[in-house]
Amino acid sequence: MKYTVMIPAAGSGKRMGAGQNKLFLKIGGHSILYHTVSVFQEDPNCEEIIMAVKPEEQAVIEEILELHQHAKPITFVKGGGERQNSVAACISAYEEKGIVLVHDAARPFLNSSVITELVRTANEKGAAIAAVKAKDTIKYAEAGAVKETLDREKLWLVQTPQAFQYKLLKEASDSAIQDGFLGTDESMLVERIGHEVQVVESSYDNVKMTTQEDLAIGEILLARRK
Ligand code: CTP
Ligand code: MG
Repeated sequence: MKYTVMIPAAGSGKRMGAGQNKLFLKIGGHSILYHTVSVFQEDPNCEEIIMAVKPEEQAVIEEILELHQHAKPITFVKGGGERQNSVAACISAYEEKGIVLVHDAARPFLNSSVITELVRTANEKGAAIAAVKAKDTIKYAEAGAVKETLDREKLWLVQTPQAFQYKLLKEASDSAIQDGFLGTDESMLVERIGHEVQVVESSYDNVKMTTQEDLAIGEILLARRK
């Protein structure tokens, strides 16, 4: 089943502390952004890529992405101050119906089997998110004191991609903008308009490159794939 992917890439990577957008940092000789886009260039079901970028970085990004052969059409839009604003810019640039995926440019090790399951589930139920089971015990604390130990069996660590029927994502995004609500992922916006979101079990490989340690993990993950 076909889909379009929206990729927010307009961050600055402050926690990585590299003094530049972390997406330009290299793992195994290629930038993080290159690896992330490769997954979608190689997936025959991906029809189109819509990417939010900082205007001053677009030329460099286009140069990086020209390295892909059999390139699919990429539409660039201007990113916003927060991740949610960057995704909203992608949503505004799209008019079709069907299934859309939102995927962080900073997650380069996504498996295509997860994409297939997300698209299938979103088509059937409207919204689906990639997530992994929590490995650690998670406690809820206030002012440094534990208030509750949460049931690990019911806890999921949420990743991207998140897949949606386009109409539902657009409605959720428009509603959040109208109410001045800022969420940390798209599914939150969908939950808040009362629509159920399905969980699709993903892989621990699908880490977000956030701090320096993640780059070292990325090198290992890439070597293991080869
Ligand atoms: N992103 C974006 N627009 C923003 C902020 C983030 O498009 N205003 C993108 C990032 O480029 C990244 C994804 O959203 O691909 C996930 O965000 P995150 O990992 O937080 O990246 P940064 O915001 O760049 O990093 P940091 O929070 O450490 O500054
Ligand atoms: Mg951020």
